[in-house]
Amino acid sequence: METQKKKVVLAYSGGLDTSVAIKWIQEKYNMDVIALTIDLGTEKDLRPVEEKALKIGASQSMIIDAKEVFVYYFIFPALQAGALYEKTYPLATALGRPLIAKLLVDTAKAEGASAVAHGCTGKGNDQVRFDVAIHTLDPSLQIIAPLREWKMSRNEEIDYAQKNRIPVDVSTQNPYSIDENIWGRSVECGILEDPWVEPPEDIYKWTKNINDAPDKPTYIEIDFEKGIPLSLNGQEMDGINLIEELNKMAGDNGIGRIDHLENRIVGIKSREIYEAPAATVLNKAHQALEEITMTKDTLRFKDLVSNHYSDIVYNGLWFSTFHQDMVAYVLSNQRFVTGTVRLKLFKGTCSVVGRKSPLSLYNHSLATYDTGDTFEHDAAVGFIKIYGLPTKTQAQIQLKALKKGEVIPSIMPPKVEPINVMKK
Ligand code: ARG
Repeated sequence: METQKKKVVLAYSGGLDTSVAIKWIQEKYNMDVIALTIDLGTEKDLRPVEEKALKIGASQSMIIDAKEVFVYYFIFPALQAGALYEKTYPLATALGRPLIAKLLVDTAKAEGASAVAHGCTGKGNDQVRFDVAIHTLDPSLQIIAPLREWKMSRNEEIDYAQKNRIPVDVSTQNPYSIDENIWGRSVECGILEDPWVEPPEDIYKWTKNINDAPDKPTYIEIDFEKGIPLSLNGQEMDGINLIEELNKMAGDNGIGRIDHLENRIVGIKSREIYEAPAATVLNKAHQALEEITMTKDTLRFKDLVSNHYSDIVYNGLWFSTFHQDMVAYVLSNQRFVTGTVRLKLFKGTCSVVGRKSPLSLYNHSLATYDTGDTFEHDAAVGFIKIYGLPTKTQAQIQLKALKKGEVIPSIMPPKVEPINVMKK
């Protein structure tokens, strides 16, 4: 009796790498390959991708539309957390990976597969994110990463594809490595690897050059409830539509181009270009609403949490309890972040021009220099006396004791020579 072949679920994009992977896994591992294509909002028709996998030899091919889960379980929580890696990158790819990992694991379970596979190379962040997430969710699964295992150069890979009648389309000539989902698009490699070179215009797809952007500003209003955006220009929208609409509006105004020289998990500095129009606008608007609804202490602490949260997501630790702890804090922290922000989109810049909230901590009668001022000016004198006391005390004792010209010592001690050396 013929024993059943083992099965592997491959995260399939339709590109050259994962297409070659279907054949390569079959040859190397003698497994049935189930191709899983996940829609996180790439706006392309995935049916041909699904069919392509079958044509190449997958035993099964399927599409999962995970856009809604992506928006409500990954993107909006990240927005509430103020997630910008190194204060710059809105984390589109990094947020998508744990979801893809989860869907791979679920599908493996449903299909009785003993392995999952992905098309990541051995020097990027994505392999870390996938492998850590997959083994956190199911340590028994074998992970196959063909691009990390095969020793083929790009040309050998193309040869292999042609020998195996795997279609090699023109985009293979594209020198860039591109990843995209509804929260953003990333472009790396090619000429971009020289951090001195300005990105060529043709790498951009979602954002207009500011020279082609409208000459008149676009004003928009976004309503938030507890840190979640609910409507655009007074019109309630589900998260997917809201993000898609903002990608379009802001992109048309040339907003959302990000040039980031970032620190990868694997120790490399890499230069990455992002297009993230909606993420740029929403992060800006959300932050403006926090400024008017949070106390100074809360804002300072939130900033620390945002940085930590971004690192955890970037570093592939989505399914960690530390992440869970931070989410608990963020949810509590967001409970007053309700209100409306008005923004002006114009020639590549997105400026906040208005904010209001039923829970606003901005008190006009305290802030105003005009009539109606209720601030107790006299109380300031006593406050300043006590507030300045430590600094005044220190000056009288320590600053006075300093010798003239005395400087803060360097943290590097000088070299100390041996006082004597004896030789045989
Ligand atoms: N540097 C970004 C990140 O690590 C984007 C990675 C894009 N991935 C890709 N395979 N092109 O999140």
